[in-house]
Amino acid sequence: MPIGDTPAATEAAARAALVRAAGRGATPATAWAPGRATLVGEHVDYAGGVVLCMALDLGIAAAVRRAGAGRFLVTSGGVTVERERAEPEGDMADRVLAPVVALRHRGVEIPFLEAGIAATLPAGAGLASSAALMVAMAAAVLRLTGTSMTSRELAEVALSAERDVLGIPCGPLDQRAVVDTPSGGVLLLDCHTGAAAPLEWPWPEAVVIACDTGAAHDVGGEEYRRRRHETERGLAALGVSTCQELTIAAVNGADLDATVRRRLLHVVGESARAVDAAKAVGSSDLEGLGRLMSASHASLRDLHEVSTPTLDAVAAAAEAVPGCLGARMVGAGFGGTVVALTLRSGAAACRQAMSEACAGGPAFELRPSPGFARLAPDVVRG
Ligand code: GLA
Repeated sequence: MPIGDTPAATEAAARAALVRAAGRGATPATAWAPGRATLVGEHVDYAGGVVLCMALDLGIAAAVRRAGAGRFLVTSGGVTVERERAEPEGDMADRVLAPVVALRHRGVEIPFLEAGIAATLPAGAGLASSAALMVAMAAAVLRLTGTSMTSRELAEVALSAERDVLGIPCGPLDQRAVVDTPSGGVLLLDCHTGAAAPLEWPWPEAVVIACDTGAAHDVGGEEYRRRRHETERGLAALGVSTCQELTIAAVNGADLDATVRRRLLHVVGESARAVDAAKAVGSSDLEGLGRLMSASHASLRDLHEVSTPTLDAVAAAAEAVPGCLGARMVGAGFGGTVVALTLRSGAAACRQAMSEACAGGPAFELRPSPGFARLAPDVVRG
């Protein structure tokens, strides 16, 4: 589906996919959930750090309706799978049906289902497509069954679907951003306390450009797991449960293995940068936010070691364009997307430079969107 289609058009595409795969039948219940782009605060959610992020006008839609007893059908990207159980079986339906399993674990009764999926958000690109899919699917099922939840519960279901059902060791960032981003489009999230503060995007003259390098990112993979483990080892060695309790000086002064020290220096510096980035948004300091985004990339590259030469080249290509204020990799890393903050006057040149730096990967503008809870008061109560 071309980037730029509206949530309503994406929901219509999910319904159409379902009809193509399973024929006409009862009108399905649908839901659309946005992706997210981290502005500053990457690889800190599992260390109890602070993140500044926005929800996107690109997202994923699910359309669901009841199926006959003993039958699940899932259709997505032209592939259709039919099976008897929602629990993972090792095929593409595992991700789509994971929220069904997570909802059942919470005691919500879910019937057998047929589901169609459509997306404007690229998959595996570091823009939280998994969390958007979990939320869209859970919400469509809640609509179908006439059930509602608090936003916290919905984010927990989406997280549990990824962590407990699919075994992906992700932190809480993506699900909270997808669900809880306020109408202003920007969310400051404290991943230790769970507190979330709304912010307005104050710059009509600035845009965020994303370039999908085409190399899939690595949230389920070994390297993400290792970064998380090294970071947690460091926090435990220093006797703290959140990186917010540490300073750079304390990390430098501690007796730590060199790799663990680098990981802690990243999470401590990055979480503090996210707090500064929120201040930059609050005081309309556009250049300050750009500098913090570039500093975030340098830390992810040099200290957390989750960037790649292609991501570095795309970020550097953006930064060289007049009008670009900063650029960084986004999401888990080891592939995925680079985002750049640029004045609108430099946006076209920035898109071109980023795309050329990764053999023509698509570059597009990201616009802030409210999170799912703001879009769906019938499903999310309170
Ligand atoms: C992935 C994970 C998140 C977070 C980011 C990195 O998107 O799902 O929990 O750790 O990577 O900030």
